[in-house]
Amino acid sequence: MARVGIIGHGVVGSGVADILWNSAEVLERRAGEKVELRRVCDLRDFPAAPYAARFTKDAALVCEAPDIDIVVECMGGKGAAYRFVKAALENGKHVVTSNKELIADCGTELEGIAAQKGVCLRYEASCGGGIPVIKPIEEDLAANRLTRVAGILNGTTNYILTRMREGGVSFDAALKEAQQKGYAEADPSADILGWDARRKICILAHAAFGTPLSDAAVRTEGIDRLTREDMLYARELGRSVKLLAEAERTPQGWRASVAPAMLPDTHPLACVSDVFNAVLVHGDKVDDVMFYGRGAGASPTASAVCGDVLDIVRCPKKRGARPEGADLPALPSFTRELRLFVRVRRARGAETEARVLAAFPGARLVQIEGEAFADEFAFVTALGQEDALLSAAESLAADLPCGAPIRYLTL
Ligand code: HSE
Repeated sequence: MARVGIIGHGVVGSGVADILWNSAEVLERRAGEKVELRRVCDLRDFPAAPYAARFTKDAALVCEAPDIDIVVECMGGKGAAYRFVKAALENGKHVVTSNKELIADCGTELEGIAAQKGVCLRYEASCGGGIPVIKPIEEDLAANRLTRVAGILNGTTNYILTRMREGGVSFDAALKEAQQKGYAEADPSADILGWDARRKICILAHAAFGTPLSDAAVRTEGIDRLTREDMLYARELGRSVKLLAEAERTPQGWRASVAPAMLPDTHPLACVSDVFNAVLVHGDKVDDVMFYGRGAGASPTASAVCGDVLDIVRCPKKRGARPEGADLPALPSFTRELRLFVRVRRARGAETEARVLAAFPGARLVQIEGEAFADEFAFVTALGQEDALLSAAESLAADLPCGAPIRYLTL
């Protein structure tokens, strides 16, 4: 029998407890042995839970107790979660966590402790909610040299962008909806500013390339400067705006970024709406593979956590080594060629057009019909080097009221 203790009975932890309690027979059949919800640690009281008798407020009764085999950490954050996970591993317990902040920042150290103790540390739920992606990268694609990981990795921002485009809903109203549905982080700035997606791309790139990415070297922009009007220009152009997280590995090193991008409506990532996430992985043998599913929410995330628990019960062995890549350096931000989309909040006329075209020769001007757009227009630049275009857009914005530039990608 495998005895499971959960730390944190919030959105994800309660979802995990629910599966362990209500689907015990299914899990037993799939694991080949009983998987018991032995204890749940939370400082709050949950008298109505069917497993109310299993609660404790003492984390040591989960992390250090001899009657727990697998610790499931769903607290989030780094302070207490780090201490509890470390204590659990040092006490010889397997650990499953959905905590991306913990894994992105301390994963290497914690994996070292797990290896030393001969136990497993699994974190499938830390990226992409219910989508199986870390295990497929580490196992099913292991015959490949993986060179690129890109995707939509934050459900909250994807939900907001979709609601702004499809429902004409304001940014604030869409964020509130996402919070009510349990998608957003406790402090939603981690979602909005792109930090959550950055943590996830770091975790995925580590799995894919073998290189621990440093947060500080990942150029990160959020969706906080985007407007409903940007979504409507995108629609006019046959495109969708997505918060795109990307990482690539070259023989010289790695680079990664998180930033809003306008993708053609025909691209598979453009069709990923609402809370759904998708991850594109490129390997030298398999070419492109895409993983798609619900990226947040109690039940999908708990599904991924329970998958890790079952995996440990069935085969509590450590995984093979990561790809060679630990010494790869971080390269400067993307130096690729692309176009930018920029919204200008000033009526179109000979003078404004001349200023735009002087800064961006060959730019294509875009005007949406209707009174609401009478006092503004937008443009798509000619192809240029990313950093040069971004700094030209910044200079233009000092002169003309412009919106945040959005990368206009073909991928
Ligand atoms: N806040 C996260 C998101 C939760 O919206 O994707 C899942 O990691």
